[in-house]
Amino acid sequence: MDKENTPKIIIAIDGPAASGKGSLAKKLAAMLEYDFLDTGALYRRVALKVLEQNIDPANKDAVIAATRALITELSAEYDDSALRNDNVGSTASKIAQIQAVRDILVEFQRDFAKNAKKGAVLDGRDIGTVICPDADIKLFVTASVEKRAERRYLELQSRGINAKKPSVLAEMQERDDRDKARLDAHLNPDHDKYLIDTSGLTPQAVLDEALKIINSR
Ligand code: CDP
Repeated sequence: MDKENTPKIIIAIDGPAASGKGSLAKKLAAMLEYDFLDTGALYRRVALKVLEQNIDPANKDAVIAATRALITELSAEYDDSALRNDNVGSTASKIAQIQAVRDILVEFQRDFAKNAKKGAVLDGRDIGTVICPDADIKLFVTASVEKRAERRYLELQSRGINAKKPSVLAEMQERDDRDKARLDAHLNPDHDKYLIDTSGLTPQAVLDEALKIINSR
């Protein structure tokens, strides 16, 4: 089979905030030389636009209009640093509740997977269920909410942001509640996904576990 006809591999990685799915997805893509898409960054880019334009995230029509405007200029390249602020993250989690916003972003994500040369790794909440239901490998990466809040707290500290542990935990729980429907969809036993609980694992052990699953397929 020549290179043009070699089937490409799609790896879907889903899971809650701060579960370690993003860093795993990035490492796997680099190792396998696959294209990588952080789909949370798409929601964050909508959120940034909403914040910049002083749009109330509860104003659905205005958020949908901002998403439509953004999609015309969307590319896989962007300035990530502006997206990492916590206000952008929590606004992203709110606007991601609007079904029309999700619908607008679906095509971009599917096209990204379809246009990958060798393969693609996408991480998010609904990759294995909605975006790429036919993905070759579906991983669900999770950890206890306490562990994830601890990681987010340390990450904020390392960026010089002085957050309080209880409020980081409360915010993580709120995020989980907002993401619940999408995360629960993965608990359907019909979904051919593999769960990696990263609570007690080092990043290297998470990568090893994922590679073991991928190689066994
Ligand atoms: O990991 P964290 O939740 O901090 O951020 P993220 O993965 O960058 O995603 C930001 C927000 O977008 C999440 O809280 C989700 O609510 C939402 N999201 C989504 O609904 N679907 C996706 N495929 C990716 C993110």
